[in-house]
Amino acid sequence: MIVCVCHRVSDRDIARAVGEGCASFEELQAELRVGTRCGACRPCAQETFERQMAVQGSAATCAPVPLVRAGVPGRADSLAAAA
Ligand code: FES
Repeated sequence: MIVCVCHRVSDRDIARAVGEGCASFEELQAELRVGTRCGACRPCAQETFERQMAVQGSAATCAPVPLVRAGVPGRADSLAAAA
């Protein structure tokens, strides 16, 4: 979805910038120039930025998830049981 028509900035561009370390809306504007011409996109750009900060910030602080849950046989166990 295009967020800023003036500078052709999409929600994916904003997500990528946040993923690469853009930590404030002002940094985002400096990086992508979003909202720096007519300004019509600023509310949507800010909302998109804040949503990405919440999503990517919470993902970074989540505890690691085990790849194999207890009591669920892994592929090797299933193959051994089938033989
Ligand atoms: S639409 Fe983003 S500055 Fe104009």
